[in-house]
Amino acid sequence: MPTKTTLEIFIRHQRQSRPGSGDYLQLIVDMAEAGKRVAAQVNQAALTGALGSSGQINVHGESVQKLDEAANETFVGMMERGGLLAGMASEEMENAYSVTAEGSGPYLLVFDPVDGSSNIDVNVSIGTIFSIYRRTEKGGRVCESEFMQRGWEQLCAGYITYGSSTMLVYTAGDGVHGFTLDTYSGDFILTHENIRMPAAGEIYSANEANRERWSAPVRDYIDHLRRGGAGRKYTGRYIGSLVADFHRNLLKGGVFLYPADSSAPQGKLRLLYEAGPLAFIAEQAGGKASTGDERILDLKPETLHQRVPLIIGSAEDVDLAERFQSTGGRRAATPEAAVI
Ligand code: AHG
Ligand code: MN
Ligand code: MN
Repeated sequence: MPTKTTLEIFIRHQRQSRPGSGDYLQLIVDMAEAGKRVAAQVNQAALTGALGSSGQINVHGESVQKLDEAANETFVGMMERGGLLAGMASEEMENAYSVTAEGSGPYLLVFDPVDGSSNIDVNVSIGTIFSIYRRTEKGGRVCESEFMQRGWEQLCAGYITYGSSTMLVYTAGDGVHGFTLDTYSGDFILTHENIRMPAAGEIYSANEANRERWSAPVRDYIDHLRRGGAGRKYTGRYIGSLVADFHRNLLKGGVFLYPADSSAPQGKLRLLYEAGPLAFIAEQAGGKASTGDERILDLKPETLHQRVPLIIGSAEDVDLAERFQSTGGRRAATPEAAVI
């Protein structure tokens, strides 16, 4: 039986092989520790009365679930003690959070404590999405402008899925690696080293209830996939938890879309702590992430909770979606058409 590589050992080797990589990799280990705590909160929620709404409405006008709040408190409480973070930004906190008045570390954490909140009460996979940046000021209280960095400036990004198993997947710019929580030992064990996303998928993932509000290029693209126009038979899968839909496509290939629509001109998903981290992971695994017009990692956020249209997954699928977008739809059906 091969010896099991824990996350701590893997990260230690990564740091040794990348001298000067800084101690931000330690933050992956710290997020994993907090993630174990949240995994237990998720698994016990029905037994501890932690299901359902907290009665609060967040900055997005969405009902805050009790678990959103509990997970947010767990990550903030555990991550601020490590001495590496100057500040944090969370989907569940309206403003940037300065770890101490002086600012105690060189890094910034952005995160979505529970992604897929609508699935909490029905026992469907949910997750946490996070990303680490270097702060731009030398010290003092963290200000919101320090978080306005482009996705390609991320130092590392990851997610934790609370599903049939609890997994942590991360990249620090040297490939994408997946770890599965061994609930007996309490260790995250390396189970998916150097994940590569298939160049083309056979799965598309979108909330088709929004179809009438999509633009023509998006409708035409989905119809093209459904009709086998990409030369492959596609099936539809939509979990309603971005992190779970993304994780499936990362391993099996496929494309996820949450496009702009007539009622949400910037789409629904947030750039800083949903699209950005997953875009970094997608590209590191050989995939792509786009608004349909622009590379997600090139976008400079203007506000903490800025929304962005998102098309993310296998490179060929995202390329085709961009061709539909740039040629206004049908004419992109054959790649040659797009060249015109
Ligand atoms: P969150 O629970 O953090 O608000 O994220 C929910 C997001 C994302 O996880 C998912 O893909 C999307 O909302 C689903 O939205 P619809 O229910 O509108 O399809
Ligand atoms: Mn989310
Ligand atoms: Mn969330």
